[in-house]
Amino acid sequence: MRKPVIAGNWKMNKTPDEAVDFVEKLSFSIRNEKKVEMVICAPFLCLERLSNILSGTNIATGAQNMYWENSGAFTGEISGTMLKAIGCSHVIIGHSERRQFFGDNDISVNMKVKKALEIGLVPIMCVGETLAEREAGSTDQIVVSQIETGLSGIKVNQGSAEKFIIAYEPVWAIGTGKTCDTSEANRVISLIRNTLARQYQNEVAGNIRILYGGSAKPENIRELLATSDIDGGLIGGASLEPSSFSKLVENIL
Ligand code: PGA
Repeated sequence: MRKPVIAGNWKMNKTPDEAVDFVEKLSFSIRNEKKVEMVICAPFLCLERLSNILSGTNIATGAQNMYWENSGAFTGEISGTMLKAIGCSHVIIGHSERRQFFGDNDISVNMKVKKALEIGLVPIMCVGETLAEREAGSTDQIVVSQIETGLSGIKVNQGSAEKFIIAYEPVWAIGTGKTCDTSEANRVISLIRNTLARQYQNEVAGNIRILYGGSAKPENIRELLATSDIDGGLIGGASLEPSSFSKLVENIL
């Protein structure tokens, strides 16, 4: 059984004080809920305080990006080892906004995922097609190629499958209120799982969690998770309020 995941992607929102305020508003039962893997992916500046305040709860903290070297002359970058040192356990890699605005591509995604796995951070690797790619009928080809190149040379085995997460986020559904049709999201996610099964064994592919992202919210999360292959959500807008974050978790229990 794959454990469901609710991962909030706060993007460039919340100061450290606002992040602490968010967590303080979550109920004891949400903070300690064991049936769902909960992650808050916050801006770098919030992560140390969030990790401290959440230690001993069942909510993990994640970054939204990292660099693949441990240290050195890389002005403005943050390494995975730095993230680990402040108690962070997860990291989003290759989000479409990073690909669109900051030059991330399948090659850099590959290097970042490799490094994250090597140092024991759980990568949440994002893939997904743009509207133009969907309209051109190339969704499947784009997503398969993002997975194959992003994972080139990366070993995932039975022991590490649970520590590796993929998120399918159709770019046209992000922040637009347009959710991808549930059966279509599940179809693409099954295709991703088949692609993983070609690269790794069936059993390993069967243990990797694959999330849907793109206007997921408390109202549609249950339907998404009722499908055969969707294991959770990477959630932007609907993860910013404590009440909405809590409902995302409660609605799939
Ligand atoms: P959204 O964002 O839930 O606001 O659509 C999802 C994401 O970008 O990860």
